Amino acid sequence: MQVVGGDQQRAGRGEASGRALVLHPVFHGEGEHGDRRPEERLSEAVGLALAIDLDVVESVSEPVTRPRPATLFGEGVLERVEAAVAALEIDLVVVNGALTPVQQRNLERRWNLKVIDRTGLILEIFGERARTAEGQLQVELAHLSYQRSRLVRSWTHLERQRSGGAFMGGPGERQIELDRRQIDDRIVQIKKQLSAVKRTRGLHREARARVPYPVVALVGYTNAGKSTLFNRLTAAEVMARDMLFATLDPTMRLIDLPGGQKAILSDTVGFISNLPTHLVAAFRATLEEVETADLILHVRDISHPESQAQRADVMAVLTDLGIDPDADGRMVEVWNKIDRVPAAEREMLTLRTPAGEARGLAVSALTGEGCDDLKRAVAGILGAGRQDIDLTLDLADGRTLAWLYAHGEVVSRADDDRTTHIRVRLDPADIGRLQRRLREPATFATD
Ligand code: GTP
Repeated sequence: MQVVGGDQQRAGRGEASGRALVLHPVFHGEGEHGDRRPEERLSEAVGLALAIDLDVVESVSEPVTRPRPATLFGEGVLERVEAAVAALEIDLVVVNGALTPVQQRNLERRWNLKVIDRTGLILEIFGERARTAEGQLQVELAHLSYQRSRLVRSWTHLERQRSGGAFMGGPGERQIELDRRQIDDRIVQIKKQLSAVKRTRGLHREARARVPYPVVALVGYTNAGKSTLFNRLTAAEVMARDMLFATLDPTMRLIDLPGGQKAILSDTVGFISNLPTHLVAAFRATLEEVETADLILHVRDISHPESQAQRADVMAVLTDLGIDPDADGRMVEVWNKIDRVPAAEREMLTLRTPAGEARGLAVSALTGEGCDDLKRAVAGILGAGRQDIDLTLDLADGRTLAWLYAHGEVVSRADDDRTTHIRVRLDPADIGRLQRRLREPATFATD
């Protein structure tokens, strides 16, 4: 478990590393039938490009009426982009869609610059943000598979640093060029390392299972405000800024809840739309904590025009992970960025529960509005089933007393010379632990 503070994470990230044009291909019918609108897809892609410090000089949506096997786009689009590239001195074009290796190569030749597709871009982000050993290995594996499929060099962070922002050729690129054989060897090696890492993770998880605190996982669409809420709830510093994917691997911290309960809060990587399939494993490796969490807080940017579509994406991934968000009662929706919702609409939000949708707890992670209510609600859910226990303890038994304060809510206490009479509210699991702890179960009675 590693918590990376904002400044640490930012250190080492240089200035913008290339003048980029973000190009979103609009396929026939996109944006219709309640689908995401092209403008939203384009702005998400720009956000992704900014997340790896590209200097986005221009962003455009261009139609793909009939996908061309050689270039994806038709001649008209190729010419328009060519003109923009020359006028704006662009070094790199990001195509917000999947390109075949042939299309990528042809576009690079045609425009005489580097072209990356959406998978390449997301791999870059994963590569920069992976913090745990497993996350890094999964990302490298995805990167190699991507490279292998095209047997051209994919574009890596390393490469960019070595070639100092120049995107064409360069010694850096040749140095890391691997042939298929070398790639295969490395893949085998990584898979071995991965299974070793997974075993260790199993041990970590067992160790954590002995920590008697419930785990609360924050999930949500990228940029929904998870890191900001995490900071707010834990009053701690993790990276939060207006960038997509501020977090890749889970970040965890102990929080105090009203009533003396404690829980482990876990921040996770943001979801994005249309995650390329070969990146799913790398992404899921980051969601381990969610599967075993006691409570899942689904953080939504309720002010976002595509909030509903984002919700559907998150639900689909959770369902794939075997979590039935509606049925198993482990999930609560947190409607974030309420400060951006006009007052009149806010009232609507609290009154109306859209069909099939649980009502959310409205908060602003930014201003703190609603966050105390959220903590109370979490305490209430986690604390359901807690029971009051009356105990008489020897005052000398400081360890048991400390344990009770750490794990339960002390409701009342009266001390005399040698003993203390204490009423404490505990989880059923902790009642069992306490029974095993106490030598004389006779002093122990439940309500
Ligand atoms: P990923 O790590 O990319 O998944 O993002 P995230 O969900 O952790 O989002 P993050 O906390 O980094 O917030 C994204 C942006 O939204 C930042 O610019 C925040 O300042 C902003 N933000 C977060 N919460 C609120 C809020 O309640 N109101 C407003 N107005 N902005 C917010």
